[in-house]
Amino acid sequence: MQKIPHFIFATAAFWLITISCSSSKTNSSINNGLKEAYHSDFLIGAALNTGQIEERNAQSNALILSQFNAVTPENCMKAEHIHPAWDRYDFTIPDKLVAYSQKNKLKLNGHTLIWHSQLPAFARRIQRVDSFKTFFENHINTVASRYSGKIFSWDVVNEALNEDGTLRNSIFLQKLGPDYITEAFRLAEKASPNTELYYNDYNNEQPKKRAGCIELVKKVQAAGVRIDGVGIQGHWHLGKVPFKEIEESILAYHELGLKVMITELDIEVLPRNFQGADVAQRMASDPSLNPYAQGIPDSILQQQATDYENLFKLFLKHKDKITRVTFWGVDDGQSWLNGWPVPGRTNYPLLFDRQLQPKPAYHKLMGLKK
Ligand code: XIL
Repeated sequence: MQKIPHFIFATAAFWLITISCSSSKTNSSINNGLKEAYHSDFLIGAALNTGQIEERNAQSNALILSQFNAVTPENCMKAEHIHPAWDRYDFTIPDKLVAYSQKNKLKLNGHTLIWHSQLPAFARRIQRVDSFKTFFENHINTVASRYSGKIFSWDVVNEALNEDGTLRNSIFLQKLGPDYITEAFRLAEKASPNTELYYNDYNNEQPKKRAGCIELVKKVQAAGVRIDGVGIQGHWHLGKVPFKEIEESILAYHELGLKVMITELDIEVLPRNFQGADVAQRMASDPSLNPYAQGIPDSILQQQATDYENLFKLFLKHKDKITRVTFWGVDDGQSWLNGWPVPGRTNYPLLFDRQLQPKPAYHKLMGLKK
């Protein structure tokens, strides 16, 4: 056998050590992601879709588990999916999500029991008030009691308010009258007694809608029914994040004795002509509305990073009032904002890009905690 010179061994050993050090560095920086950085401040969550719940992509799964300690189902617990027919429920994916959250010690927020959007078609067709009331009660009882003791919290009612703070003229208001919100919380508490119960909405940081939200909460409280928190969805727009209104709202909701959560955070970069997140609202498709289909300039990503940084500075200032900040998705490729309010756009609202790599905004948020 030919003698191998010493320096070859030395070089090989050097590279082995370098490679193993750098891979352990990658692992440790992954394990010390956002959830670790903000560990003593508030939970950091993400909305998960079915592919993510089923762990179809190992890289994406590793990213989720390294960054987040709270999860919300993006769609699978909404009535149209979990309760597709009068006497039929489909718990397949929700059950997987519960198992996933238990296995990985993630706080699971159920989303959502009562919402006028993504209702099953049969529910919209119910004419009789007593039948609609039965649907309403059966839905809450069946879904909430199935996950009692297995879920941390529920968005009991979602988006019940108009922009002016009055109650939205939804099918629930039409059929059940204004007390349906209190009733939903009462039923949820009974079905799932140890679960935190929240009201969730978009634009409820804006003064008029906030006033309506405060009134709604006070009404539930006055009825002696438990409500634990308010979620501010947080679908905001680059350069237009309403910092002042957000701070005023955190203070106002806290004053009511409630926990405050940011529940569906994203900062989108594409043009649109309205604020908020009404899923029924659409804009016509037009190439001028999709300017970054081939890639996004770094200057925009830097601006987004600054918006996120200022937002988290505000959240940290009020960390005694905020219990969770959840992003509406993990990476830009997954975001609902690629399909809403204009279909087929290329949007960039989250902290991770389409290759699952951290964006400048991610580094800013980690930097705040250095
Ligand atoms: C969105 C989902 O992300 C989409 O996949 C779905 O097509 C429509 O709903 N407010 C909410 C969320 O409370 O449930 C919505 O999620 C976004 C707006």
